[in-house]
Amino acid sequence: MKSWVLILGGSTGHGAATAIKLAKKGYGIIAFHFDRGEAKKIANQTIDKVNKLTDGNCHYFNTNATSDQAMEKYIPKIKTITNGRPLKLLLHSIAFGTTTNFFGEKPVTQRQMDMTVHIMGNSLLYWTQNLFSEKLLSRGSRVIGLTSEGNYLAMEGYGPVSVAKVAMEAIIRQIGWELGKYGITANAVQAGITPTRALTKITDNWEKWVENTKFRNPMRRTTKPEDIAGTIEMLLNSEADFINCSIIYCDGGESRSGSF
Ligand SMILES: NC(=O)c1ccc[n+]([C@@H]2O[C@H](COP(=O)([O-])OP(=O)(O)OC[C@H]3O[C@@H](n4cnc5c(N)ncnc54)[C@H](O)[C@@H]3O)[C@@H](O)[C@H]2O)c1
Repeated sequence: MKSWVLILGGSTGHGAATAIKLAKKGYGIIAFHFDRGEAKKIANQTIDKVNKLTDGNCHYFNTNATSDQAMEKYIPKIKTITNGRPLKLLLHSIAFGTTTNFFGEKPVTQRQMDMTVHIMGNSLLYWTQNLFSEKLLSRGSRVIGLTSEGNYLAMEGYGPVSVAKVAMEAIIRQIGWELGKYGITANAVQAGITPTRALTKITDNWEKWVENTKFRNPMRRTTKPEDIAGTIEMLLNSEADFINCSIIYCDGGESRSGSF
């Protein structure tokens, strides 16, 4: 086995595709997810697949990974799993937040804003702080978060998540700036619109978004989770050791293309 990676949000979408890709490449997978009901069945399919690909070097925890208690409880377990060896990757791929507008029928509340920004933004900082202080991140480790075009565009229902994305990008930049001297890099990967479970939660119009995106995207399709997984795998190579504090676009050119 090459080394261990930690994926926050590793059961579906981008996180699941990355777990599968890295499992195929010989990494051990530690992942968190938070799934109930139908989502849990889909999660179990991913877990079975990753378990087989890694020959059992696979640990999935179904819990809210963004609480202090989760970090307190699971970081010692992670240390035991890796035998104290540092992680190659900490990937934040959690999608959970309030998707509503700031004004109108259901204006976002302070509680919803705080929750969304914590789960989709700030929690990456606390994970990184805790893993670093336990020496689970060191030279060659990568911290990666996923961002979207909503970091600079206003969109229906996306306001709270948009704020979280901007927070996450600032956190990543600062982590890379402070930990670069230890050989630890931090970057964001910007995915184009990807038909995942999270997308269906943003708007009832998500199918229309997908159709419009296929037309707008120079490559005439939407982003696939596998595209993001491939980009993350590339970023683990030693050739990427000097890529730091950056946003890497993996969207077929979507964010550089007009809507007409
Ligand atoms: N889908 C898109 O169009 C798109 C585009 C750009 C960026 N992104 C970003 O990619 C990331 C992943 O989104 P996705 O589209 O793969 O969504 P998804 O819904 O398929 O996956 C979300 C994952 O987060 C997990 N999760 C949710 N709450 C959690 C919690 N509290 N603790 C632990 N795990 C939790 C789920 O179990 C699941 O594994 C998000 O940051 C999202 O904003 C998505």
